[in-house]
Amino acid sequence: MTTYAAQNYDFKDADVAWRDLARDLGALLHGERDLVANAANTAALIWDAVPGLNWAGFYLYKSGELVLGPFQGKPACVRIAIGKGVCGTAAARRTTVVVEDVHAFPGHIACDSASNSEVVVPLLKGSELLGVLDLDSPLPARFGAVEARGLETLAKIFVDSLG
Ligand code: SME
Repeated sequence: MTTYAAQNYDFKDADVAWRDLARDLGALLHGERDLVANAANTAALIWDAVPGLNWAGFYLYKSGELVLGPFQGKPACVRIAIGKGVCGTAAARRTTVVVEDVHAFPGHIACDSASNSEVVVPLLKGSELLGVLDLDSPLPARFGAVEARGLETLAKIFVDSLG
């Protein structure tokens, strides 16, 4: 395995930072196919690198619902039904959901009252739903198109790493 050297990503240019992060995630996961190990390292890298987060991690699709997977941040709700909350909505729609103000999102599930904005990317292997990758922020409107595309790229690197 490549040793991950913590480094500062310069989010003053977010496009460049997300590109650097994608390069480093590819190196970090290279040669390993274990889902839990790679999800844990993906969550840890994002948490270490991306400023302004209070939660970063996975919900995995199991027996028809989302179940909490590897993450960084405060303990979180364990099970989310498909279609419920931001995570369940992204899973049901199979598209990325960006929420500028979670308090205005009908059905938002508040695991941490500090959260104000959120982005959730579905994890798709072909047509199979593996789960979702979720970032929360205490900042309002922390996530936009650049973050959505950046996180989608990381999600694809994670899914592809599983073989
Ligand atoms: N807010 C999410 C629940 C998961 S936590 O943010 C970790 C939702 O509405 O689906």
